[in-house]
This record gives sequence, structure tokens and C-alpha cells, in this order.
Amino acid sequence: MDEFEGRVAVVTGAASGIGLATATRFAQEGMRVVLADIERDSLEAAVSKLQGQGHEVLGVPTDVSQWDAIQHLADQTLRAFGQVNVVHNNAGVVRAGRMEELSLADWEWVLGVDLWSVIYGVKTFLPLIREAGEGHIVNTASSSGLQSAPDIGPYNVAKFGVVALSETLQFELIAEDSPIGASVLCPGAVATRITESERNRPDAAADTETNQRFRSFASKLVGEGLSPESVAEQVVHAVRAREFWILTHADWIDVLRKRVEGMEDGRKLVMGFGG
Ligand SMILES: NC(=O)c1ccc[n+]([C@@H]2O[C@H](COP(=O)([O-])OP(=O)(O)OC[C@H]3O[C@@H](n4cnc5c(N)ncnc54)[C@H](O)[C@@H]3O)[C@@H](O)[C@H]2O)c1
Repeated sequence: MDEFEGRVAVVTGAASGIGLATATRFAQEGMRVVLADIERDSLEAAVSKLQGQGHEVLGVPTDVSQWDAIQHLADQTLRAFGQVNVVHNNAGVVRAGRMEELSLADWEWVLGVDLWSVIYGVKTFLPLIREAGEGHIVNTASSSGLQSAPDIGPYNVAKFGVVALSETLQFELIAEDSPIGASVLCPGAVATRITESERNRPDAAADTETNQRFRSFASKLVGEGLSPESVAEQVVHAVRAREFWILTHADWIDVLRKRVEGMEDGRKLVMGFGG
């Protein structure tokens, strides 16, 4: 998709971090943008800021793990702007815990926000993008969707799922020679509030030592990460150039090579996070 001016984008998890940066970048490209997020205060602040800069944007409070909420998001988008061209399924959360520590509620929360949201988003918005004639779907996975790390099982499972879903979607779009494209965003560390994910958890879950350890390790890594704005730049480039893979950190390619070498060896497991 090379024409952005006047087109309509929907971004989830748009009140913070990567989502806020892509929503801002799409608006700066002249798009009308719908920002969706569960965190009402920061969503309102983001929308007011963008409107203050003269951008045509709408905020829709949305819990992306709920089918009805995604339907409502689509309805509100069509009501306000009449069409949808670009969807960035981006909202995400993380919870750490060893396999035997994780509760079913931990799994359900992370898979709901990180994977079911993308299934709902693609199922809902793909037909609407088809009606618009041209567009693009970007799904945020993670480097954890290409290579697992210990203690974040639900996150790894969800993000591998997002990569699989996105690849499947792109294969299908290519097979039909569609004017719609798909990309999967696999960031390494980006300086956002991801390690404070539990601020948006609907059910209170007791903290655990593993979760605390992960938070302190990951907060440092994330704090030293890329700026969300530079990731947004890569997203816009991928949409324009119809590039599928958005791997924000070039050194991940080496980790992936080692992963494949480990497969050849048959016994070797390779860890991405410095291990
Ligand atoms: N920051 C990183 O290092 C990093 C690395 C790889 C992947 N990611 C992925 O990037 C995406 C964006 O995260 P971020 O790093 O910008 O973190 P962030 O916490 O700054 O932003 C995530 C946004 O998602 C929203 N959100 C959480 N639960 C929601 C729900 N149920 N419904 C709607 N919105 C909800 C939050 O309110 C927040 O605004 C996530 O999918 C995350 O997994 C981040």
C-alpha cells in the first residue's frame, strides 16, 4: 500500500509504547486513525494529544481479548470513517512463571490478549479491508515468536501463534494475488511499559518470585531497547514496501541461524536472551 493520505488505520494497544508510536506515525502520514486500548486514561490522553496536533483520530476503549469488543471497535471505525485499510493488531501483555507455577488464569489472560485478539482482529477486519479494496494487516508478535525463552511460556506460545497466523494469512493473500498485504512485527527489546503489563490485568494475581525476577531482568533490557518511534518507522516502511517480516533487531538473524543449526544437531537448544 503506497498511498496513506486519507486512508483509515486501526491500532490496538495504541495508548502506550509501540502502538502509540505507530498510531502517531500513521496520523503523520495523513491517515485517519482509530486508537483502541483497555487503559482509558492514557487512551484519552493520546487521542487529545493527536487531535491537538490537528490529526483526525478516534479513541475506542477496547478489551481486545473479547470478540464483542472487537466487533464494537469495527462498528465505531466504520461509523466514524466509513472504511478500514490498515489494521495493526498490537496490544500485548506478559506474565512470567515456570510451567508448574503458572495458573490457568495466567495462560488465559496472556493468550486472550496476545493471540485471541489477533484471531478476532483478522477475522473481523479482513473482510472490511477487502471492501475498502486495498490495505494491510500488521500483527505484533515478538522475537519470542521465533525463539522461546524460559519462564514466559504463555507469551512464547501466543507469539509463535501470531507468527503462524500471519504467515498463513500472507500465503493465502499471495495465492489470490490480493491487493492486501500482511506483516508480522517481531521486536527485540523496545523501551515501553511492557514489563508493567499487569497494570491492565482484570483479575488480581499474586506476584511470584519468578515474575519479579523476570520483571527486573526484562525492565533493564527493555529500558535499553529501541525507541518505539524507530519501530513505528519500520512498520510504515513494511506496509509501504509490502514486506512481511519486520525484525527490528538485525542480530536476531544470528540467533535464528543458531536455532536451525541446533535442529540439525538434534540435541542443541538455543536461547535468544543472551543465553
Ligand atoms: N517492548 C518490547 O520490548 C516488546 C518486544 C517484543 C514484542 N513486544 C510486543 O509489542 C506489543 C506492544 O507492547 P509495548 O511494548 O508497546 O507495551 P506497552 O505496555 O507500552 O503497550 C501495550 C498496550 O497494550 C494495552 N493493552 C493491554 N491489555 C489490553 C487489552 N486487553 N485490550 C486492549 N489493550 C490492551 C496496554 O494498555 C498498553 O497501552 C505487545 O504485543 C508486546 O508483546 C514488545
